[in-house]
Amino acid sequence: MKNNLSNIKKSKYYLDKNECIGMPTETVYGLAANAYSSKATSKIFKLKKRPKKNPLIVHYYNLEMLKRDCIINSNFLKLFKNFCPGPITFVLKLKKNSRISTNVTNNKKTLAVRFPNHSITRKLLKKLEYPLAAPSANISTGISPVTKEDVIDEFGKKIKFVLNGGNSKVGLESTIINLVNKIEILRLGGIEISQINKVLKTSLKFRKKNKKMIVPGQGKIHYSPGVPIRLNVKKPKLSEAFILIKKRKIFSKNFYYLSKKGNLKEAAKKLYKTLRIIKKKKFKSISVEKIPNTGFGEAINDRLIRASKF
Ligand code: TXA
Ligand code: MG
Repeated sequence: MKNNLSNIKKSKYYLDKNECIGMPTETVYGLAANAYSSKATSKIFKLKKRPKKNPLIVHYYNLEMLKRDCIINSNFLKLFKNFCPGPITFVLKLKKNSRISTNVTNNKKTLAVRFPNHSITRKLLKKLEYPLAAPSANISTGISPVTKEDVIDEFGKKIKFVLNGGNSKVGLESTIINLVNKIEILRLGGIEISQINKVLKTSLKFRKKNKKMIVPGQGKIHYSPGVPIRLNVKKPKLSEAFILIKKRKIFSKNFYYLSKKGNLKEAAKKLYKTLRIIKKKKFKSISVEKIPNTGFGEAINDRLIRASKF
């Protein structure tokens, strides 16, 4: 506890100086910087090698802070009440007098916002006078980090500090929903669509096509361990790492299961961790058995399909 407090202070020290830090959230770790500062946010793009046209998600402590920058609506309030703080990101209209750096939005009139559900990070956000822009803390197109060590793996000494918050509980990025004009799911993630439909009384579905224009960061290659991946495989090659949804009786040392009993939520949590372990073991290729395409399985398949485009 004492340790946490001094680490939160240290984080604030660097952030106030317009530096980037690694920050835990319940989804994945973020590379965080003051969202009101162009100097600070430009460092995020440089470190991640992220194209400037790909806007960032801004992390808030509470509604009061958010209302300084965004125009909210009734759908937002319903979802906020049910899921926040939690693994959901809202695309809202930016206020004309908002202080958000134009780096964050790529000069667009919308802003992606979320309220992360991680106690240490909430304590940090509470202490700051600005919200935090934070994309996942990985080099662009790579695997998102789910521990402090993963962040160090990605950036080494290039970042000044990583706030330790243990393992990310969800292990997969937030669900992104557009609430400007048309309601649309832009990215599958930590909140299932069925839960959102229940709250909004809608029947939204995730449509893969044409997302590139609205969500610049959901390009074809993403979440890649840098190793070729084959999907829907029944029999792996001997030299391959083989990812299974659940543990099997006959098990080889090249086999990696995502959940002992095939629970999809647990599998989502273990996906990035498993890909990073396999990458470190220097396998030349990865095969994955068919993953059910329901609930969190849909999000897992979405990430695997993009990762397999390498
Ligand atoms: O769980 C998460 O959302 C994590 C943690 C760190 O909060 N963050 C994260 O950020 O996944 P990032 O940058 O890796 O992915 C954000 C996605 C990108 O695909 C980006 O293009 C999209 O959100 N995005 C950002 N602003 C947007 C906007 N105004 N409209 C539509 N899409 C936007
Ligand atoms: Mg990312």
